[in-house]
Amino acid sequence: MACSSLLLPILAAVLLPASPLLRPASTYAAKDELKLGLPLSAAALSFEEGYTQLFGDSNLMLHGDGKRVHISLDERTGSGFASQGAYLHGFFRASIKLPADYAAGVVVAFYMSNGNVYEKTHDELDFEFLGNVRGREWRVQTNVYGNGSTASGREERYGLWFDPTQDFHRYAILWTRDRIIFYVDEMPIREVVRTASMGAQYPSKPMSLYATIWDGSSWATSGGRYKVDYKYAPYVAEFTDLLLHGCPSGSTDPPCDAAAAMSPAQRSAMARFRARHMTYGYCHDRVRYPAPLPECSSAGVGAEAEAVAFLPSGEARSIGRRHRRARGGGADYAL
Ligand SMILES: *[C@@H]1O[C@H](CO)[C@@H](O)[C@H](O)[C@H]1NC(C)=O
Repeated sequence: MACSSLLLPILAAVLLPASPLLRPASTYAAKDELKLGLPLSAAALSFEEGYTQLFGDSNLMLHGDGKRVHISLDERTGSGFASQGAYLHGFFRASIKLPADYAAGVVVAFYMSNGNVYEKTHDELDFEFLGNVRGREWRVQTNVYGNGSTASGREERYGLWFDPTQDFHRYAILWTRDRIIFYVDEMPIREVVRTASMGAQYPSKPMSLYATIWDGSSWATSGGRYKVDYKYAPYVAEFTDLLLHGCPSGSTDPPCDAAAAMSPAQRSAMARFRARHMTYGYCHDRVRYPAPLPECSSAGVGAEAEAVAFLPSGEARSIGRRHRRARGGGADYAL
């Protein structure tokens, strides 16, 4: 993407090299960036440069020159922050480390939304991390709303091939005019291709980037069976390497709207991930959607091949086996 020329006012301040301490263990080589077609090496913004606190007073703490943000949940409040600007399309990423041990009922969300501007017709793109009881893994949920389509959840849930509480991992959302891709550590895990049938349910108004932690006791873990236990508070989620590679609102510059083509290698890595780790998909949920939402029939890679692996509830048939983390696994997802 070449939207960086539009971001000069924003990026000018961040051309200083980041301290190695503030970077995740692996850094990106230019060739990886070319291979993936993503602006991975764009400079990360410090908190003051790009963000603003939303709620949670002292439960939001800055560390390391303001490039690391800790947001926490305790019995008083959760906390969260948002980007200062709104963007129409772009690439948005954070390295996130989730709270360890018992975290049932805890929700950490990293998402795009314009709900503050469009109360009834908002758009939203979500990564939601759903905590679990001790010894059980966090689940990741992605979701898409467009033009206030909150009656039509487009949720998918996955296990991960690593423990997201042990290290920082990168979670990213690419949003273009034609498609939306969710990434974990540069591996695409979900692609939403804009179809005519989705109409306005494809997010198409400027959105801001948000990160929050909050009490989701009523639904987050096993449908609300396990609640937040404040005996283990505070629950701290760590964010770093925040990347806003967004196109400023109103920009119609073609590069900002360029379609991101997925390479065959990325596409097959995504299919392998979904076969092994996806635990729920709305396109397979015949209880909630007796007739699948229109885009499901043309959902592209693996949609039909995937369907056989899911129950009519939308849950994966072999849910216990499928989401178990393979020790030392992940190498087979290399692109
Ligand atoms: C978005 O939703 C509103 C309210 O339901 C509707 O009036 C409007 O036409 C929709 N926008 C588009 C582009 O369909």
